[in-house]
Amino acid sequence: MRIKVHPVLGPLKGKATIEIEVDGRRISAIPGEMISSALIAAGIKVFRTTHKKGEPRGYFCGIGQCTDCMMTVDNIPSVRTCITPVSKGMKIKTQYGHGKWEV
Ligand code: FES
Repeated sequence: MRIKVHPVLGPLKGKATIEIEVDGRRISAIPGEMISSALIAAGIKVFRTTHKKGEPRGYFCGIGQCTDCMMTVDNIPSVRTCITPVSKGMKIKTQYGHGKWEV
């Protein structure tokens, strides 16, 4: 689900990738891209569930305002994945409700 040839930025070919882990699954990401971009490219659309009804939420505004993309990243809950860049070996988990700090 990636744009392989961008009309302005050019071809994606040749970009280095890193691996991140999402709910125990390893996916590739491009250094510098936001977590949500890597997730969408991997076909992952549900990032969290609401605390009252458990309804699924995912990428919505893309600018850090709606909080629909919050996930637990490296044991820190409520990280907005649309404004947080990936880093090698990052561990990301779907956030249920308010999430919780994991030690
Ligand atoms: S998609 Fe709205 S805050 Fe990330």
